[in-house]
Amino acid sequence: RCPALRRLSCAGTLAADFRREEQPSGSAETGCKDKTPMKTFSEVQDGRREQAQRTVLIQCPNKISEKKFLKYLSQHGPIHSHFFYESFGLYAVVEFCQKDSIDSLLNGTQIPTVGTEAVIPFRSRFFSLKLKSPSGHITEKSPVQPSNQLPPSSKKLSELLCSAESVADQLTTLLKEFQLTEENTRLRYLTCSLIEDVAAAYFPGCTVRLFGSSVNTFGKLGCDLDIFLDLEETRKLGTHKSMGNFWMEFQVKSVPSERIAAQKILSVIGECLDHFGPGCVGIHKILNARCPLVRFSHQASGFQCDLTANNRIALKSSELLYIYGTMDWRVRALVFGVRCWARVHSLTSGIPGAWITNFSLTAMVIFFLQIRSPPILPSLDALKTLAGTEDKCIIEGNNCTFIRDLNKIKPSENTETVELLLKEFFEYFGNFAFNKNSISIRQGREQNKPDSSPLHIQNPFETSLNISKNVSQSQLQRFVELARESAWVLQQKDTAVPSPSSKLPWGLAALLLPSLTQSKKKQKKFGNERLKDLLESIKSNSAESSTNTSRK
Ligand code: GTP
Ligand code: MG
Repeated sequence: RCPALRRLSCAGTLAADFRREEQPSGSAETGCKDKTPMKTFSEVQDGRREQAQRTVLIQCPNKISEKKFLKYLSQHGPIHSHFFYESFGLYAVVEFCQKDSIDSLLNGTQIPTVGTEAVIPFRSRFFSLKLKSPSGHITEKSPVQPSNQLPPSSKKLSELLCSAESVADQLTTLLKEFQLTEENTRLRYLTCSLIEDVAAAYFPGCTVRLFGSSVNTFGKLGCDLDIFLDLEETRKLGTHKSMGNFWMEFQVKSVPSERIAAQKILSVIGECLDHFGPGCVGIHKILNARCPLVRFSHQASGFQCDLTANNRIALKSSELLYIYGTMDWRVRALVFGVRCWARVHSLTSGIPGAWITNFSLTAMVIFFLQIRSPPILPSLDALKTLAGTEDKCIIEGNNCTFIRDLNKIKPSENTETVELLLKEFFEYFGNFAFNKNSISIRQGREQNKPDSSPLHIQNPFETSLNISKNVSQSQLQRFVELARESAWVLQQKDTAVPSPSSKLPWGLAALLLPSLTQSKKKQKKFGNERLKDLLESIKSNSAESSTNTSRK
């Protein structure tokens, strides 16, 4: 077993079933050569979904005996795995071996009475465990060990990076510290599954799917939860039975467009989450965005959720990124490095606006790895050429076909180090002709820019669209200047390698310093521009306009 998997120690069985999925990154990082075939994106998703349906979330009293807790729950059936975590209280995620156990638990659980208030008797898989006599349980010798759901503090990260041995080592450390853990991934699928239960009250048989960085291998601890309501199966259900001259259809309401249908469905599900969804707070409907969404917080898991409808292309982009992220370990190491760098320097932001998004940055890294010699990553067109008939996929008239079986893709012969790649990434984009060229991961070559937007990154599946249309000239300029300065830092003898005599941050740690090498004057200039962009963003967001250019 790879150390990366052993680390997931909370329950012996926790990671075992997802070995094939963990294997690509695990083996590359740790050097363990495991020839188990790699899972496809759909296999991972289906497996995780089924696992989440056998899982419950329980708020526990702070001091609890783990042994007694498990014994109590086992009366409903054998437990496959469990872990605890803290988030304004102690929570347990418990996976049963069989789905029937959930029914037994639901049947053995009471709706509470809350003083003079009235409760909404909504029965979900999110429970509270109560103690009959609170003092009886505190005798436990070994208290529960909550698993960590947060990224390291900047101080801890800085220490870890400074004690690394090389820039490559620093990138690996960053990846290990920030990537989603097994437990966090489980919590994400569970939260998605709990939301599916709410949506299923209206649309039995619907699926709520996870996409974005939770599943595309580039997720950082703390990233948002992108989910979408998939009604494809609901539309398909009921195999067309015609006999003689007859067949049956549902009586339905119709609206003028798919967009309006999505707005109506999301509006109602948003209301339902608001009124009945335990732990769902701060519901905000953003229905006029290019891709209508409902944003809310799931308090118990701490995730900010963006729920959309009808977002199959975004799911397909996540699958494509999953393929790229799994193909070669250097991809994730670089993407994590570049994303963290961009975040520290406020090139990206949690608020939608004129800044570069993580999705665009990932596309830039992928593009850069496609144009290496020999290429580290194939173009999307090359992946399409490798596709078989089973891979064919057309969504809303867009050809989204590419090979989905990772085992059929030949590994790259390129042996460049991540250290070199990081430096050259900054050099390449520090000197890129953004004024005339566009970035296309579909073709894996620079293209002529079709319009005047400052940054043009072709949408891989809707090729006439630009995924970074929102980026302003000043934000692009900041990116370019910081990229140049970072390339420079990585070339300097005193900052590129660790020096035993000096305690100064070096390599990646030096790049992640908020001040980097910027002069006071430049910092002030960019500070003003950022403020201007921020004000613009707040203005347009409060008007609930469609500044959100994403497919979210
Ligand atoms: P985080 O910043 O870690 O959340 O990264 P993310 O990849 O999850 O990005 P985000 O939450 O902004 O968007 C979720 C997903 O929506 C992305 O992974 C893409 O698949 C898709 N997406 C986001 N922005 C765009 C866009 O501008 N165009 C298109 N076509 N898809 C987008
Ligand atoms: Mg996201």
